[in-house]
Amino acid sequence: MNNIIKITKSSRSNVSNVDFDNIPFGRTFSDHMFEADYINGEWTNFEIKPFDRISIHPANLALHYGQSIFEGMKASLSINGDPLFFRPEQHSIRMNASARRMCMPEFPQEVFLDAIHKLVAIEKEWIPKKKGSALYIRPFMFANGEFIGVKESDTYKFIIFTGPVGPYYAKPVSLIAEEHYVRAAVGGVGEAKAAGNYAASLLPARLAKEKGYDQILWLDAVEHKYVQEVGTMNIFFVIDGKVLTPKTDGAILKGITRKTVLQLLEDKGIETIEELIDINDIVEAHKAGLLQEVFGTGTAAVVSHVSKIMYRDTLIELPPVENRKVGPMIKETIDGLRAGTIEDRHNWIVPVKQLVNV
Ligand code: COI
Repeated sequence: MNNIIKITKSSRSNVSNVDFDNIPFGRTFSDHMFEADYINGEWTNFEIKPFDRISIHPANLALHYGQSIFEGMKASLSINGDPLFFRPEQHSIRMNASARRMCMPEFPQEVFLDAIHKLVAIEKEWIPKKKGSALYIRPFMFANGEFIGVKESDTYKFIIFTGPVGPYYAKPVSLIAEEHYVRAAVGGVGEAKAAGNYAASLLPARLAKEKGYDQILWLDAVEHKYVQEVGTMNIFFVIDGKVLTPKTDGAILKGITRKTVLQLLEDKGIETIEELIDINDIVEAHKAGLLQEVFGTGTAAVVSHVSKIMYRDTLIELPPVENRKVGPMIKETIDGLRAGTIEDRHNWIVPVKQLVNV
């Protein structure tokens, strides 16, 4: 395999057209993208080139049978203006775990890391300076075979593009626990970052919105009572000073921010518990006055506070964010790590390598 990435720069940049004080999530794209092909059993054609539409065959297998996976990661600027990644190798590891589950080829970690370093170095001017904003990086892979038939593809495409983003949730989110539809069952693909998981969440999410809630709190597929995650985030409960989060049992996304938050809480000496969490126990803790905070975590969401949860006929209203301790402290810590103002004890921060002569 020839790992050299060919680089073709765009003749002009769109960066000056962007209002960096007002960036809606996921609608602005930077000037370049990385592309690679899986052909004859190996990855090839590594190239960074101007961002553009791609052309696919109408019988493209991903469109019909759903072999499509993705990652979401971010680059930010330190207070000194240096571009930084946060735990980039973890995203490569998780992408390859998703690939294995979806019967797709793994993408070599050294090329993944080389590609994001080169792409983000080229797009440095696209990294927002404002606190809470970042350059979102979207690696994704899809089947590129051109035939009809439920079989694994023989060709795949891997692409990375980027775009500046503000906060995913501008305000605390309201949740409704879902007892009819399920997101994932143990043995299914819930642990993979598979595109179809998100497609399956859209109808229940629309119904939740019609009832006045921002997002769904997913419950398990068998007993419909064990908390799993929120559509775009893992979930944490602060009960009587301890922090609880559902254990990853095969149906829950293994969030990199989730893992980070657990480590940060441990560093701060706060007790964390990963276990099966019965929604009825959350209701009981609320009734007993012990439920102090609920927050979600994710790359896009970072740490997003939950304002209320509806379960059957019980509405759990949570304290205003200014009266919370744990969620805001963890958010500040992650923001501080990303800005390089808090000591990086775990070597999570990786400076983007500078590119010369491009
Ligand atoms: C992320 O957190 O980066 C995700 O991929 C979630 C997505 C729904 C925005």
